[in-house]
Amino acid sequence: MVRRIKTGIPGMDEILNGGIPERNVVLLSGGPGTGKSIFGQQFLWNGLKNGEPGVFVALEEHPVQVRINMSQFGWDVRPYEEKGLFAMVDAFTGGIGEAAKREKYVVRDPDDVNMLIDVLKEAIRDVGAIRVVVDSVSTLYLTKPALARGTVMRLKRVLSGLGTTSILVSQVSVTERGFGGPGVEHAVDGIIRLDLVEIDGELKRSLVVWKMRGTAHSMKRHPFDITDKGIIVYPNKVLKLRGGRAELELI
Ligand SMILES: Nc1ncnc2c1ncn2[C@@H]1O[C@H](COP(=O)(O)OP(=O)(O)OP(=O)(O)O)[C@@H](O)[C@H]1O
Ligand SMILES: [Mg+2]
Repeated sequence: MVRRIKTGIPGMDEILNGGIPERNVVLLSGGPGTGKSIFGQQFLWNGLKNGEPGVFVALEEHPVQVRINMSQFGWDVRPYEEKGLFAMVDAFTGGIGEAAKREKYVVRDPDDVNMLIDVLKEAIRDVGAIRVVVDSVSTLYLTKPALARGTVMRLKRVLSGLGTTSILVSQVSVTERGFGGPGVEHAVDGIIRLDLVEIDGELKRSLVVWKMRGTAHSMKRHPFDITDKGIIVYPNKVLKLRGGRAELELI
């Protein structure tokens, strides 16, 4: 029996046959505004509610902004930080600014992957993390694509080696069909892709689980919504994209 970590996102664990196999490193890929950060934050929050400590690595947004964004969904991580059950790794500010001085885990040079990994390891050990989200890994190699695979492999060794189940957010452009480059796509244990497509003047959200080592999973494109409580996935619905038109079907 594979041990699984439940995402706790309504509908998502049904699609994954019960959850993400333990220690998997999952690439969460999608274009701008597709819901990657919210998905990752909800995954961490559900862990905290379940007694599983977590770490969020903020590379894209100010840690203060991440906490504000999360609290808008009712996910207030501050009490968990105070109890040593949640850590925010600040790989955004470089320690610059008043707010950064209050952060406990600061990567002084966010371009230095060695430093990032050292701070991340410390945070994982301190809180005893079961779940980790890195938002986003693309930031680490956007300007140096040749380093992508090596960077992801190093992160994977640390994350899986320390026993965490993790999500690496990967940014792709609106038109790109892939998930973040061949080196990265083969290195990770799982790929979940979030999409936003315009149909008849309306943007529709959907996701697919492209791969997930260690488990069978849905092979369908499922619609999902973002609400003021977070993401809701519809495991019993499939979004069919046909020649630019989408059809929603119950399955
Ligand atoms: N309370 C809410 N209710 C409904 N939808 C919301 C709410 N808050 C945010 N959204 C939607 O979520 C989107 C942002 O999601 P998120 O930040 O997870 O995107 P992302 O994939 O991380 O994008 P990026 O790659 O730009 O960081 C917004 O553009 C908006 O459409
Ligand atoms: Mg984001």
